[in-house]
Amino acid sequence: MSKINIHPSILCANHSNLEDEIKRVELAGADYNHVDVMDGGFVPNFGLGTEVIKCIKKHSNLPMDVHLMVNDPARHIKFFRELGADIISIHPEADKHPARTLSKIREMGATPGIAINPGTSIETIKELLPLCGHVLTMTVNPGFGGQKFMDLTLSKIEHLGALAKEYGFSLCVDGGISVKRIKKLALLGVTSFVVGSWLFRQEDYTEAVGQLRNEA
Ligand code: DX5
Ligand code: ZN
Repeated sequence: MSKINIHPSILCANHSNLEDEIKRVELAGADYNHVDVMDGGFVPNFGLGTEVIKCIKKHSNLPMDVHLMVNDPARHIKFFRELGADIISIHPEADKHPARTLSKIREMGATPGIAINPGTSIETIKELLPLCGHVLTMTVNPGFGGQKFMDLTLSKIEHLGALAKEYGFSLCVDGGISVKRIKKLALLGVTSFVVGSWLFRQEDYTEAVGQLRNEA
């Protein structure tokens, strides 16, 4: 059993009772709130907005991991840092100068991250890795919760597991994660897990987070 970080994806919470959901995942022992921001341009969906993020900050003491699925993320990093983002991940394809944006995120006092789409190879982003504190490997195409884990990402995850040791970033997976996948991914070097629909489907979040930790 190794120490892993659990990042509940708030996109998948029951938004009719968001305050309760946020409090329950914190009580369950989650490590970060994972916040998906989508602009309807980079991905075919919208969310989560300013008011939702303020609600999360108001009712939770957990640090916040913001996943920017937006075009030209450099324009928005200051805004999300001021809303309380502790980790800010950008998609390099969406940014003309991702190296500059990652450095700016670090200068702002947040942890810079890149999100790597299933169809993006390590070759195209490897120069950015020394600038990252966090690497969010997408295990589904970004934009929606509740999708099926894509096995084609496994060889890339294995390679990133080795690079994480070399560069010291936290290696995170996002999309289709459930208790049955944790062990294999942890063995490949994954240390952080975004968990959306699987977690919010469970009755008892404390038991679910415990199950995830036991499996790793
Ligand atoms: C997908 C998002 C994820 C998503 C995860 O674009 O980045 O964070 O909400 O949800 P599940 O775990 O249901 O795939
Ligand atoms: Zn996400």
